[in-house]
Amino acid sequence: MSSILSCGQELLAIHGGKPVRPTALPYGRQSIDEGDVEAVVRTLRSDWLTTGPKVEEFEEAVASCVGAKYAVSFSSGTAALHGAAYAAGLTPGDEAITTPLTFAATANCLLYQGAIPVFADVEPDTLTIDPEQIAARISARTKALVPVDYAGHPAEVDEIMRIADRHGLVVIEDACHALGAKYKKRLVGSIAHMTVFSFHPVKHITTGEGGMVVTDDLRFAETLRRFRNHGISTDARARQSAGNWQYDMVLLGYNYRLPDIACALGVQQLARLKANLARRKQIAARYARDLQGLPGIRIPAVRDDVEPAWHLYPIRLQLEELSATRDEIFKALRAENIGVNVHYIPVHLHSYYRDRFGHGRGEYLVAENAFDRLLSLPMFHAMSDGDVEDVIAAVAKVLNHFITA
Ligand SMILES: Cc1ncc(COP(=O)(O)O)c(C=O)c1O
Repeated sequence: MSSILSCGQELLAIHGGKPVRPTALPYGRQSIDEGDVEAVVRTLRSDWLTTGPKVEEFEEAVASCVGAKYAVSFSSGTAALHGAAYAAGLTPGDEAITTPLTFAATANCLLYQGAIPVFADVEPDTLTIDPEQIAARISARTKALVPVDYAGHPAEVDEIMRIADRHGLVVIEDACHALGAKYKKRLVGSIAHMTVFSFHPVKHITTGEGGMVVTDDLRFAETLRRFRNHGISTDARARQSAGNWQYDMVLLGYNYRLPDIACALGVQQLARLKANLARRKQIAARYARDLQGLPGIRIPAVRDDVEPAWHLYPIRLQLEELSATRDEIFKALRAENIGVNVHYIPVHLHSYYRDRFGHGRGEYLVAENAFDRLLSLPMFHAMSDGDVEDVIAAVAKVLNHFITA
């Protein structure tokens, strides 16, 4: 370890020095093997390109993998969140409480239904929504709670479910970062009323674009199936096997279907989920071991009763100990060919939310303070040990340069 960390005197790449690695390392990336390619090609040669047998197979596999009764696939995690917002009964004027420290899609999906996202600040250690802040924001118009399992670390779902029970609210867990995570020995997907996953290429498994809502509630599952299929009560395959043509549109839905081509990829990928999670855990452990002693940095917290899925590895810079801003350190690491990123600009600080709702700085202090310091290090299951060492070396090199303490 000391050889990795002893490069403090080196000239930074941003100042004309040699970068830690010659090629760019992305912050996230899919991994596709020959079995994936063959499965997709087999589906391309089959009778069903969309809404065929692979959809059902993928949905059943995901449901059983996360301990839920039903799974309904969608064309993206965003579409899946929209479906969940609809199934939860959100209508114009309703409120739903969510975290500001998330991708905008979490809150946008509430707006699609005409509902108002009410933000509640996050907990300082895990950066997941603070149940006490939720409780303080419940009003007569609150209908749903939308916690996010930030970076793959589950939110405090037991406490959130207790609040929801007390007030008759629906909990939609945005677990787009947390496929395969565990909370108090239970799988994420088996706890909230509805749980949403994403299969974007930087996630734990991919279908290109894709998402899924899982639930134990048959009524939610039925509504979700209709919502993703124009609001029609049967799908084409069911009509074909029943030998009739009739269908009825019973609600205003969308075409949010995930095609068989994508589901064929999903079935293959899901078989590697355990291995992908294990590799991500290994990478996180290596980062923790080698980075936690460095000055100027705070590594992600993990609560005792949780097994995160490690979608991201967001470090927080201790800016008081550094002579550079997060953005300067971001640029310095990018120059070293390390694909760092920032997750997230708090949703209430985006222009759209500022202009429409009058939000601004100073409302959610924990999230805003974290945002100024956050930097996501590369985290994907196909990273080699050499990649991980390059990240650690580059972080050490850049921090040693800017450290003042
Ligand atoms: C927390 C969160 N929610 C929702 C989404 C939307 O998922 P998708 O990109 O599959 O639409 C993302 C995307 O990364 C996300 O990070």
